Amino acid sequence: MKDPIEAIQADALACIAAAADPRALDDARVAVLGKKGTLTEVSAGMRDVPKDDKAAVGALLNTARNAITAALEEKQLALQNIADQQALEGIDLTLPARALPHGSLHPLTLLRHQAISILRRMGFALAEGPEIEDEFHCFDALNTPQDHPARNEKDTFYFASGKLLRTHTSSVQVRTMESQVPPVRIIAPGSAYRRDEIDATHLSVFNQLEGLYIDSDVSLGDLKGTLEYFFHELFGPATEVRFRPHFFPFTEPSFEIDVKLHAKGQAPRWIEVAGCGMVDPAVFDAISASRKDGAYDPNKVTGFAFGMGLDRLAMIRWGIKDIRLLIENDVRFLKQFA
Ligand code: DAH
Repeated sequence: MKDPIEAIQADALACIAAAADPRALDDARVAVLGKKGTLTEVSAGMRDVPKDDKAAVGALLNTARNAITAALEEKQLALQNIADQQALEGIDLTLPARALPHGSLHPLTLLRHQAISILRRMGFALAEGPEIEDEFHCFDALNTPQDHPARNEKDTFYFASGKLLRTHTSSVQVRTMESQVPPVRIIAPGSAYRRDEIDATHLSVFNQLEGLYIDSDVSLGDLKGTLEYFFHELFGPATEVRFRPHFFPFTEPSFEIDVKLHAKGQAPRWIEVAGCGMVDPAVFDAISASRKDGAYDPNKVTGFAFGMGLDRLAMIRWGIKDIRLLIENDVRFLKQFA
């Protein structure tokens, strides 16, 4: 048996060495190690080998199989290297890589930054408050009675604990007056939550920007001048702005602010962009009751407040027709703002 095994090994190694491509290499493997391969057949003959020779023949078979397997692996690597080199031929690996696409700020972020920067230039500082609020800060201190529709379970997300997701950023007014003494001049951008049916103009989570200015002699003229200036900076100096009398529990008098929208292909129309008014003395009373230091005595201080919808402002600014585009993260939409 010794000679045939050595002959098979020598023959196989020669075939492997001669194989010029993966196909020829596989043929060589099958010819020797396949089901009907030469070495396989000799291995099957082991049972006829006399007992005394079995160990020696077995060892020889192992040596042959190991040598052939190793040669196959080595040749396979060598062929792969050649294939890789051929694939790279003509490619200049020193060329700079293709640029990755850059991300960009979301339109809402752009608008919020712009709104904040205009108001900061006017001296408003950033303030914040929790999104999970209690009824005192969201409603009671803001002179909103128990039976006001905004407090309805159908409109507001309540937790079992009695806390709620704030329905507006106006709660930050209360938190600020609790922790700071006048003069106060703050803005509070942030999320607000309502159980609204989702459609092209409503989401159940949206973004507001609240403002509050309290001092000893703040007037309605200050309110009007500040917000007119703001909208002229945001939408351009020719933008028409109007104050329409309205009702909010926490301001008196109260107004809604409209700007005239000139959308392409449409007749110009007024769009509501914010609510505002002079802080109602009842709000100062509520703050005074919890502070007990008279800092917000309604006979000593006056102030104005406003709240605007940032999503709505972004929609107006860029002519976005569906608010859902702002949360869908469709790159085809977002990259227009890059
Ligand atoms: N909180 C009001 C809303 O969500 C907006 C608002 C109106 C805020 C008048 C104010 C204000 O500060 O004075 O609809």
